[in-house]
Amino acid sequence: MKEFNIAVIPGDGIGVDITREALKVMNKVAEKYDTKLNFTEVKAGGCAIDAYGEPLPKDTLDKCRASDAVLLGAVGGPKWDNLEGSKRPEKALLGLRGGLGLYANLRPAKVYDVLKTASPLKNEIIDEGVDLLVVRELTGGIYFGDRGRCDDNGVAAAYDTEKYNTEEIKKIAHVAFKSAMKRRKKVTSVDKANILESSRLWRSVVEEVAKEYPEVELNHLYVDNTAMQLVRKPSQFDVILTSNMFGDILSDEASMITGSIGMLASSSVREDSFGMYEPIHGSAPDIAGKDLANPLAQILSAAMLFEYSLDMSEAARDIEAAVQRVLDKGYRTGDIYTEGTKKVGTKEMGKLVLEEL
Ligand code: IPM
Ligand code: MG
Repeated sequence: MKEFNIAVIPGDGIGVDITREALKVMNKVAEKYDTKLNFTEVKAGGCAIDAYGEPLPKDTLDKCRASDAVLLGAVGGPKWDNLEGSKRPEKALLGLRGGLGLYANLRPAKVYDVLKTASPLKNEIIDEGVDLLVVRELTGGIYFGDRGRCDDNGVAAAYDTEKYNTEEIKKIAHVAFKSAMKRRKKVTSVDKANILESSRLWRSVVEEVAKEYPEVELNHLYVDNTAMQLVRKPSQFDVILTSNMFGDILSDEASMITGSIGMLASSSVREDSFGMYEPIHGSAPDIAGKDLANPLAQILSAAMLFEYSLDMSEAARDIEAAVQRVLDKGYRTGDIYTEGTKKVGTKEMGKLVLEEL
């Protein structure tokens, strides 16, 4: 029997509701493949601030380090919004990403056929197909660069710095090209090379790396143009390779296009098989604990965890197929509900997926 250790961070808000359902699904699938999962639940984000006075206790990071993979719900909420920068729940995310060396963030955005009408874009645009992957650099750039307050000739000022070195760019570029090789073999590298020096370096390094992947078509786009192209013709994208900050913004835009942010999973990974898996959506405090959240993004994050960290791709396919069947049967949580479909709560949705497994 195989055995894996999984650190589980439900976090705040609906993170708790959806993670509960995902764990049930994981156990069921693991059983089928004669695998034992040892879950260790740890705190991060607002609940850790409440319990220990800090968003990312050392014990949480240690337990994550000692595991094979991490499943994360969501962190944050209005209760902790007025805390100073270093004490905010979001700091836990940066600490986990940096502390675990998770430099590559993979955020797929794809439109489910049965949920097409949920997209805010016109049908004819969606009909061309939306199936893209944002590969976002996650442990460098302006998120981790030098920042501070200073004095600008007697006027109070503040600064944040965007800096990338060649190695950081190479590493993330390889992730993008390798992902493209498994997909439609197209990489769009997004930068602001008409203005930023760091983008000019980014572009030249990406071009070097591209030589190792002659089958992959590479193009470069400025970030502002990319924002426009994403809503004009999303079908033109396969893999979008970009920096931490641009990736943050573009991945939100890409997920919105699908119209079902409650369906999208993501992973944060490094060279080895270790990774952290989480839904793209946030903690939605307004609906937390009310049995209203859509657990499918978290269930699909669990599928990604099986595939990439546990090398159990069949288990991943089982989960994805079960989710698809539940949707085909017309069950929807509130966020993806349309007239004529059957509205269910978080727990019921989790149960339906379980039944399909
Ligand atoms: C994300 C989030 C985080 C980020 C925040 C919560 C720190 O927006 O994962 O995209 O900016 O990376
Ligand atoms: Mg974001």
